[in-house]
Amino acid sequence: MTRGPERTVLTYGTFDLFHIGHLRLIERLAAMGDRLIVGVSTDEFNATKGKTSVVSYEDRADIVSSIKGVDLVLPEEGWDQKARDIEDNDVDVFVMGDDWKGKFDHLGELCEVVYLPRTQGISSTAIKQMLSAFDPVHLDELQSAVTTLTNLLTHYRDLG
Ligand code: CTP
Repeated sequence: MTRGPERTVLTYGTFDLFHIGHLRLIERLAAMGDRLIVGVSTDEFNATKGKTSVVSYEDRADIVSSIKGVDLVLPEEGWDQKARDIEDNDVDVFVMGDDWKGKFDHLGELCEVVYLPRTQGISSTAIKQMLSAFDPVHLDELQSAVTTLTNLLTHYRDLG
């Protein structure tokens, strides 16, 4: 289904701690058409899902809009705006990562719907989990484990 001379592609995401999986997705999306629109989830919308991002909406939107191939960034503020965005922007193809497989099939009445395979081994959640090891709470725990181990080693050395 092509609505005009240009093929317009639309996607949505949080894009927190922008990483290689995000970049690979955007590169593939840009290659699928002539115009790429990315809906970036606002902090308020994420809060309704119990999701907090490290990077603010304004900064995430700035980062995504500076990526080669992205023509327009719009705020994703709710679940029900996708149909409206498709109509308002003459979207030809709606694309999401396959973690959303089947969830947006109903939009197939309005445009083509495609799910792309995710890049393996990376996600914003995994980066946050890795960084949490440097949280002061965990550093305190680590320090106390090292102290216990040192005391034990000293004890056995003194015995032997
Ligand atoms: N994505 C991808 N490959 C990854 C991570 C994300 O292709 N390794 C895609 C998602 O499928 C989605 C878009 O990038 O279409 C934005 O995903 P987002 O949820 O912001 O990124 P995640 O890293 O999956 O974040 P989280 O861990 O918070 O779910």
